Amino acid sequence: MAKKKTSFICSNCSYITPKWLGRCPECGEWNTLEEKDETVIPKDNHRLFLSSPEAVFSHINKISSSDCERINSGYRELDRILGGGIVKGSYNLISGHPGVGKSTLMLQAALEISKKSSVLYVSAEESASQIKIRFDRLSGRKNCGELYLSNENNLDKLRNRLEQEQFNFLFIDSIQTVYSPAIPGIPGSVSQIKECAVKMLETAKRKGITVFVIGHVTKTGSIAGPMLLEHMVDSVLLFEGDPTLGYRVLRCSKNRFGTTDEIGIFTMSSNGLQEVANPSQFFLSENEKATSGTALALILEGSRPFLIEIQSLTTSSNLPQPRRVVSGVDGGRLAMITAVLEKRSDFFFSNFDIFVNVVGGLKLKTPSIDLPVAASLLSSILNISLPMNSAFVGELGLGGEIRDVPGMEIMIKEGARLGLKKIFAPKGRIKLKKSEKAEIIETSTIFDLIENIRSMNIFES
Ligand code: TYD
Ligand code: MG
Repeated sequence: MAKKKTSFICSNCSYITPKWLGRCPECGEWNTLEEKDETVIPKDNHRLFLSSPEAVFSHINKISSSDCERINSGYRELDRILGGGIVKGSYNLISGHPGVGKSTLMLQAALEISKKSSVLYVSAEESASQIKIRFDRLSGRKNCGELYLSNENNLDKLRNRLEQEQFNFLFIDSIQTVYSPAIPGIPGSVSQIKECAVKMLETAKRKGITVFVIGHVTKTGSIAGPMLLEHMVDSVLLFEGDPTLGYRVLRCSKNRFGTTDEIGIFTMSSNGLQEVANPSQFFLSENEKATSGTALALILEGSRPFLIEIQSLTTSSNLPQPRRVVSGVDGGRLAMITAVLEKRSDFFFSNFDIFVNVVGGLKLKTPSIDLPVAASLLSSILNISLPMNSAFVGELGLGGEIRDVPGMEIMIKEGARLGLKKIFAPKGRIKLKKSEKAEIIETSTIFDLIENIRSMNIFES
């Protein structure tokens, strides 16, 4: 009798090899190759799923852009990140560390959306009664609209029901817990995530369902599973925030229907997530009294300007290599700022330990914080307190010049609105109205900044 032909298939990523190997060459996992009869190995998991019988070519002018209909989620922060509402029929992925509030945010959005559309919330992670307890907390036990819950984690059963019923919205909590019985691998393995995401997309697009999928993150913070997931979806939302800090930041790393610059800020309360309409209040310390080393910075996140506080501490060091400890600011950027200060003026930081912190734990990448960081370093090393009604904004060049940054006007106007008296900014065209009480202090070079700080003679005792 002829021997049955077998192959080895990786239970993690579905890689197929004729020979047994200890480690899968595709995903790098050990001992995941299992011997299978070739007849049972699925040949084609990635067939094209949205094709019509004939290829259709349409002239670009004939395609209507009004197809992109948007629906309000009931949360302005979420709508803004998505580019002005949830695009009907879109496939969205939301990811974040455990406990950050992904399920809470999605359930809150589902609750609001269900007032106008029919919603199915699939949670394979929590039981229906657990979700109900959370739901009661979030809704204040008020009745909601068309919201249905399911604990089903079998993809095929879910798709069958979705084919029979008409839902407008589908939430999956999470993609790592649903599985397809058609392919090998445990739920959450690369091959399972791929299969579930692709098949769900197929059903959703055909039925016109808008989908939100929750995805776990790995230890390093990236989205667990294949990169395919991020390529496939229309938007990737990242929910970040240290649960010990009171607030959470929602960012967008991919958006087919808008920009990725916007951020949304929420706080976690006993009744779920609350939106933060005025972020400046969150990123300022409660300390009204000015202390040396503290500088206010105007920043722009997406289209939203706000005020944050940067603190620096410079202390003499006995270490051969003085410490540079930064939180919220890029270490390379700090090295550049100290290098410019050393080269262009008579400050020496090489004998000092430097600690820089952004109050509230926000992580900043924008170059507009160069000037406030330099101001806080100078304030600390000179032991001069900067007035708390002044803020700084500008990028520092290697020649010591302070440069304009995009969105300068929006930031300055917001500073004036928040009641700042002085805004230190590079020479620009921006003029404030008489009604706006703030004064723009032209700071074109690092020398202007040093001179200005030296003239602030509020010395600390
Ligand atoms: P959860 O949304 O389950 O996080 P994730 O799905 O991202 O893992 O919940 C996050 C945390 O928020 C949880 O530890 C409890 C807390 N929480 C509140 O403080 N208030 C609330 O109203 C809810 C629903 C949760
Ligand atoms: Mg959860």
